[in-house]
Amino acid sequence: MHIPSITLNNGISMPQLGLGLYAPKQQDEIKQSVLDALDLGIRLIDSAAIYANEIQVGEAIKESGLSRKELFVTSKVWMDDMGYDSTLKAFDKTLKDLGLEYLDLYLIHWPKDGQRKETWKAMETLYEQKLCRSIGVSNYYQKHLEELFVKANVCPAVNQFELSPFCYMPEELAFNKANTIQVEGYAPLVRGWKKDDPVLNEIANHYGKSTFQLLVRWNIELGAVTIPKSVNRARIQENMDVFDFSISEEDMERMASMYDNTRVAWDPRDF
Ligand SMILES: NC(=O)c1ccc[n+]([C@@H]2O[C@H](COP(=O)([O-])OP(=O)(O)OC[C@H]3O[C@@H](n4cnc5c(N)ncnc54)[C@H](OP(=O)(O)O)[C@@H]3O)[C@@H](O)[C@H]2O)c1
Repeated sequence: MHIPSITLNNGISMPQLGLGLYAPKQQDEIKQSVLDALDLGIRLIDSAAIYANEIQVGEAIKESGLSRKELFVTSKVWMDDMGYDSTLKAFDKTLKDLGLEYLDLYLIHWPKDGQRKETWKAMETLYEQKLCRSIGVSNYYQKHLEELFVKANVCPAVNQFELSPFCYMPEELAFNKANTIQVEGYAPLVRGWKKDDPVLNEIANHYGKSTFQLLVRWNIELGAVTIPKSVNRARIQENMDVFDFSISEEDMERMASMYDNTRVAWDPRDF
């Protein structure tokens, strides 16, 4: 199955669909899920230190036998490790745990108050040292980005935040686009909470797809990178099978009107 790529503002190519890895109760299934995803053709892996499974992810990458250049590996610095020196230290641990020599993308996980500027400086250092092919942020809304722009030497390549019809903030998408920052949507499936929604089901049936596939495709239609998570091979395959249909403008609008601020994670506006 061919997954399209997009080009980031620094010329680096990033697959538009990857595998999410936040699975606190399924840690023993993570290694196999990464192996399955890589075998099925996924190349973007969305890791993070706080997911506490980077060793398993690293083992899977090694066992896959794929060349490093074929992969796009992301990780994130957690809130407790923010600050200049501690970000560099956290990055070093992540790299060792993953068994890699560089990352394709390193993100600030949450815009925690107080240490955002020093943390971005550390990200720039890692980028200059070519330890990360690109750097970015996560859960940054416009006010956090505007603050970052004042002191930054490097513009974030990616901003990862929650994106589904139920958590759709078009003004944030537009702001990132205007500033050349690629949006990466997380929790595209709303963790399955909306799978029985009658309107979603009606639209999905119309395209002969599941509600999960419809939600993944919705992110793709918006031009976002998307990272649905599953530890199950058949469901990983189902979530990837979204490149043989497109959602009409009318249905995109119908889905956008489902916004009810349902979030699986915190609201960045509270940071
Ligand atoms: N930057 C951040 O702050 C942040 C926050 C949250 C998430 N993320 C990232 O985004 C990724 C995705 O978000 P998420 O994991 O929160 O939620 P999600 O991808 O919206 O949903 C994952 C849930 O849906 C189930 N599922 C997946 N495919 C399915 C299918 N086809 N049919 C039925 N159930 C299905 C999974 O169960 P099974 O695994 O059992 O299939 C899991 O319970 C995370 O894993 C993480 O990498 C980032």
